[in-house]
Amino acid sequence: MSSLNEQITSFLESVGEDNDILHFLYNMNNKKFDRKNQSIYYSGPFWDNKEVVAIIETLLSGKWLVSGEKVNKFERQFSKKFGHSASVMVNSGSSANLVMIAALKKYFDWHDDDEIIVSPVGFPTTIAPLLQNNLTPVFIDIDIKDLNFNLDEIEQKITKKTKGIFVSPVLGNPPDMDQLTDLAKKHNIEIILDNCDSLGSKWNDSDLSSYAVASSCSFYPAHHITTGEGGMVSSNIEEIVDLARSFAWWGRDCYCVGSANLLTNGTCKKRFDKWLPDVDILIDHKYVFSNIGYNLKPLDMQGAIGIEQLLKFDDIHKMRRLNKRIISEFFIKHIKGVRIVEEHKKAETSWFGVPVVCDTPLIKEKLVKYLEDNKIQTRNYFAGNILQHPAYSHLEDASSYPISNSVLRNIFFVGCSPTYSDEMLEYIESVLKNFSLN
Ligand SMILES: Cc1ncc(COP(=O)(O)O)c(C=O)c1O
Repeated sequence: MSSLNEQITSFLESVGEDNDILHFLYNMNNKKFDRKNQSIYYSGPFWDNKEVVAIIETLLSGKWLVSGEKVNKFERQFSKKFGHSASVMVNSGSSANLVMIAALKKYFDWHDDDEIIVSPVGFPTTIAPLLQNNLTPVFIDIDIKDLNFNLDEIEQKITKKTKGIFVSPVLGNPPDMDQLTDLAKKHNIEIILDNCDSLGSKWNDSDLSSYAVASSCSFYPAHHITTGEGGMVSSNIEEIVDLARSFAWWGRDCYCVGSANLLTNGTCKKRFDKWLPDVDILIDHKYVFSNIGYNLKPLDMQGAIGIEQLLKFDDIHKMRRLNKRIISEFFIKHIKGVRIVEEHKKAETSWFGVPVVCDTPLIKEKLVKYLEDNKIQTRNYFAGNILQHPAYSHLEDASSYPISNSVLRNIFFVGCSPTYSDEMLEYIESVLKNFSLN
């Protein structure tokens, strides 16, 4: 009798040719590019039938459909791949930031209103978790060279209340991590990493996350690897990960993970004990709550996809870097009045996109419209300056951050997805060649 995995694979092979979705997955990398009808998406899942088989197999054979054995295996393999002592998977990158900041606050005993330095430019849920955890974001204007916060301006904003610097490398590209590390050491503050856009980026040959006390990651389809939705918190301090897990799992004290969740006596081997001082009988550890938590657990099917995606990561990293280089060259060759952000010589950036800095807002407006009209997707660098948005404008006057304010006016990005074929790259060049500002 063949294994469940083999049976599902042969079933998919038998229907693959007749089923649109499966056909797409089977042929994604070999498919002919249809210039008239197909768009060049800025990103998207890079996967094949292995992920589909893994989802179905987990659905049919999983003992517990939520944060079970597959999620636990993915957490362990992810930690091994990127050099962490421990990781916890959650249902999104935003959730990862939320529980990571909650865990750090508790672990380091930070108080309400303590300050965390962060760029005003980027994705909203880098900043929102600081406010949600009653911490104060302290903003630093960006450096137009690499669009990360200006390291030379950080020191003047450090006060007695400063506890950390939350770095979110712009489209995967880190700031000078040596300078940042020196600053953090000098002032005895923590580096925290939003690694959602920079999974696999390196500084001085070491994974970026090794410079931070904890890091978060997103597995939304636009990111380097995807589980549909999903996120991860990782650290070399296991207690921080245990706290993050507790916050993501209703705030519970019990730390059984994977199949241990189904053990009669639990991981602690004393599941029934006198856990609460005011209750003098044996009670179940599973319902003891040591944190005010949320429920942010992923499905086990997401863990199963993650295991397959990790195997593809090295290829994804190489292809993103190659496509970033090729597409940058097209822009430089064919478009006047733009600059492409490049990596620092000590960085090996796992690019999320190709950052295009336009000399004028008019060039940005015309170029974005032209590319979109020709089915080449573009994106803003997310929110631009978050202080320009209704939910955040009460925090501070956006005009104090003039370079950040230029982001929505002058900057956009296009993709460097590993799904791009040679034909797609040729198409991108042919479109750029014909751009005219008039
Ligand atoms: C830098 C950064 N942080 C956090 C997030 C949030 O991740 P998610 O969409 O998985 O919630 C994103 C989103 O894509 C992001 O780009």
